[in-house]
Amino acid sequence: MKYRMTVHPSGEIFEVDPVALEAERDGLPGSILQALLHSGIDMDHACGGVGACSTCHVIVTEGGDSIAEADENEEDCLESARGLTLQSRLACQAVPNGSKDVIVEIPVWNINEVKESH
Ligand code: FES
Repeated sequence: MKYRMTVHPSGEIFEVDPVALEAERDGLPGSILQALLHSGIDMDHACGGVGACSTCHVIVTEGGDSIAEADENEEDCLESARGLTLQSRLACQAVPNGSKDVIVEIPVWNINEVKESH
């Protein structure tokens, strides 16, 4: 199901079509990481999107209840993320089901590593 994603602090808003994400290879199918990469946001993802590094840490400030809860592996990995919050997720493991629009915040210390290519 299509939904809208807002990314802070840039304020960029785009529509996410899960079908269009099928060409993306890093991260779980339909994950926030895939949506960010597909929209041209070069989100850092050092482990290639397999839930093993926490460099893709994002904070889902709205719409988080449309994403399945983190499994044990994701929770373990997040424990090493800087600035952990209750709404923290690994972008590569968090897959919105499209029932709600989602607002994602990329932590400020990751901003320098995020290069927008469009
Ligand atoms: S890219 Fe490594 S945990 Fe998400």
